[in-house]
Amino acid sequence: MKITRIRGFSDLLPGETETWQFVEQVAREVFARYNFSEIRIPILEKTELFSRSLGETTDIVEKEMYTFADQDAKGSMLTLRPEGTAGVVRAYIEAGLAQVEPMQKFYYLGPMFRRERPQKGRFRQFYQIGAEVLGRKDPVADAELLLLLNDFFSTLGLHDLSLELNSLGCSECRPRYRSELLSFLQQTEDKLCENCRRRMERNPLRVLDCKEPSCSQVTKNAPCIIDYLCQACQDHFAEVKRLLEETKVAYIINPKMVRGLDYYGRTTFEWTTNRLGSQNAVAAGGRYDGLVKDLGGPAVAGVGFALGMERLVLLLGVEEESRFNRPGLYLAWMGKAAGDWAFPVAHALRQRGVVVEMEGEEKSLKSQMRRADKLKAQYVFIVGEDELNKGKGILRHMGSKEQVEVDLKGVETELAGKLPTSKTNL
Ligand code: HAM
Repeated sequence: MKITRIRGFSDLLPGETETWQFVEQVAREVFARYNFSEIRIPILEKTELFSRSLGETTDIVEKEMYTFADQDAKGSMLTLRPEGTAGVVRAYIEAGLAQVEPMQKFYYLGPMFRRERPQKGRFRQFYQIGAEVLGRKDPVADAELLLLLNDFFSTLGLHDLSLELNSLGCSECRPRYRSELLSFLQQTEDKLCENCRRRMERNPLRVLDCKEPSCSQVTKNAPCIIDYLCQACQDHFAEVKRLLEETKVAYIINPKMVRGLDYYGRTTFEWTTNRLGSQNAVAAGGRYDGLVKDLGGPAVAGVGFALGMERLVLLLGVEEESRFNRPGLYLAWMGKAAGDWAFPVAHALRQRGVVVEMEGEEKSLKSQMRRADKLKAQYVFIVGEDELNKGKGILRHMGSKEQVEVDLKGVETELAGKLPTSKTNL
């Protein structure tokens, strides 16, 4: 029987990977502009890292984690990371970075795992590009992250995303809101879904995040956290908004946005699209000023985001292929002598950065030209017996069909100067 991939897990094949690499390259370039450094953390962590940081009553911890027993430590459980923030914070604490330099700006790229129901834009293994700023409680850090994302989206040519903002308050002001919300929900408890009724007492804010139509109907008139913020939270939020206005980044306030993870406080945000159906969040994040301490580290603030690669690539669609790794040169050869001549020349050109394709077995010129066309090679260089005898090959530009003769002697230098390299190809 044929073995197939697991539901919700995808293969990325050539043709798609070029787009992914391009997006990752743009991300690395934009992160560098803002002085972020890459961090690589394990895919597998102890389960309690996630249950403690994301919250026991979140959908992720309750039902979406891939968890199994650690065969090496009796009673201990391991989980495939459902997100990156918890692991980054753990690494920051474990490496003692707060003692060396508490202000750190990290970014990461990689797969995350959640056992959600697969649908368009929603997978069980999905890739995130994420960023975490630790040791900064100032609103400038929040605004800078949003500007970074804005730069990233516009470099990719995505201009139709909306930025939704909210503030979730802090341990000073949230408890008052929480009890107001709870008494509001208790009055309409019979209209809530079973899940919300069960979780309501422990975490009433989760109800605001429920996608069940009956719950959304109830929460339409629920009190909003934004009306309960303490002065310090109001000032922080006002400054984030002012900095965005100053830099002309448009946003809308969404007072019902609570996010699906419990570590957030103060600023939260989502960049959404109306082009992906219900999975409309392309990037999301916010502040988590209590998380480092909750995980056993010093009282250090944090703010970050993660964006979903699959959703981003869906939005980009099939971009003009020209941007991606098409060959700069297709080396067409006829006859064994020409093949022997072409092999070291291809090598020398590749060493100079030119993307070169050539056949390993002899083929007719017609079939080689057809393949060069299919590969969208920018140039073809043709060498057969005649060309070897004359000491001159033919360089053909595939777009304009113009042809010129080029001396075979010193051809590498001559062509390397003319042809685009793999770097200029991107
Ligand atoms: P999140 O909202 O759970 O936040 O995920 C961030 C993004 O990952 C989403 O906006 C979406 O684009 C993508 N995503 C999430 N789940 C899936 C899925 N099943 N399939 C495809 N894409 C998905 C976090 O993960 C936080 N760690 C973000 C953060 C970083 N907050 C502070 N720092």
